[in-house]
Amino acid sequence: MSNTPGLTERESEAPDVGELTPPDRTLMGPGPSDVHPRVLKAMSTPLVGHLDPSFVEIMDEVQELLRYTFRTDNQWTIPVSGTGSASMEAAIGNLVEPGDTMLVPTNGYFGGRMKSMAERAGGEVVEVDAPWGEPLDPVDVEAAFDEHQPDVFGFVHAETSTGVLQPNVPELTDIAHEHDAYVIADCVTSLGGVELRVDEWDIDVAYSGPQKCLSCPPGASPLTLNDRAMDKVLGREEQPRSWYLDLSLLEGYWGDDRSYHHTAPITNVYAIREALRLVAEEGIEERWARHRAVAGDLKAGLQELGLEMNAPDEYWLPSLNAVQVPDGVDDGAVIDYLLEEYDLEIASGLGDLEGDIWRIGCMGYSARPKNVEYVLSALEDALAEQGF
Ligand SMILES: Cc1ncc(COP(=O)(O)O)c(C=O)c1O
Repeated sequence: MSNTPGLTERESEAPDVGELTPPDRTLMGPGPSDVHPRVLKAMSTPLVGHLDPSFVEIMDEVQELLRYTFRTDNQWTIPVSGTGSASMEAAIGNLVEPGDTMLVPTNGYFGGRMKSMAERAGGEVVEVDAPWGEPLDPVDVEAAFDEHQPDVFGFVHAETSTGVLQPNVPELTDIAHEHDAYVIADCVTSLGGVELRVDEWDIDVAYSGPQKCLSCPPGASPLTLNDRAMDKVLGREEQPRSWYLDLSLLEGYWGDDRSYHHTAPITNVYAIREALRLVAEEGIEERWARHRAVAGDLKAGLQELGLEMNAPDEYWLPSLNAVQVPDGVDDGAVIDYLLEEYDLEIASGLGDLEGDIWRIGCMGYSARPKNVEYVLSALEDALAEQGF
């Protein structure tokens, strides 16, 4: 018993927890990807205050680097404090007002999350269908617009749950704008790894996460809005339901005033600054080309092993390779074997594709020939274990 009256043994004793020694994994799943050593180093530099003049300069730099990476001149370009779902909810929760109708896709897991967020924002949700594993067809999007006249249209540029890249983005944004709607693009698994041109493609709002093709830990998530979208946000009759993600309040911190709203995750801002500096050094187009080339080698190697890709070449997503699980092979056993024997992470399918595919990421710092060779030889061994 404890000597302090009222305290039990458990309350009085400090837990004996050892030093942190996470396993040294190679991250080739749907994210996070391996973090670049320069990003880890930036994260171990000393904190300054979130309103320190030196930090204000860092904020400006991050915004400029984000504009470069998104291919946009949007003034309203910020890292939202939180994971990709925070930038997603900032986009949807501010743009969708009670009574607005939002059109969302049904062809993957993250279209479903868009739906939940739009409903929580007080919106009516209507859907445009495509099977899991296929992109949206512009003909179906046009038909959904004619039928429902939505105010906001959301689509997923790179569907992490299915390994599908949405082609024809300018066609989709044209349809939306002909109907006076706003377009929100989920670019979590495309930003910094797959061709994305926010201004040229006329995307009103795009959000992303840092832990995929930017190879940065989660915590500060890219978001950009054009003036047209921001005018809608600032002209809302009713406040957004989230105080934390209210862009009219965040403007005070990330806009000209630089006044306190919340204490920014300083270390995550350092991290994304370094990750984006790496993008700028490499060059954004060269980076897209590297992802295609390295993931192309991965794809070719998988096919040589006798495996089939789930997505045809027209909408293959280099940053997330969906590979069909062959008949008679236990997908979970292969995933476990790779983790146990090779410290290598890949992932299973989700939703409609659960059990049918593996998801092998090729993102950011993980998109290197060395990693591809490692995955291919480890997978060959794991498949042999399964008698394939
Ligand atoms: C396409 C897509 N959208 C949104 C998210 C949500 O991001 P987070 O898990 O960082 O909150 C993810 C995460 O994997 C994603 O892949």
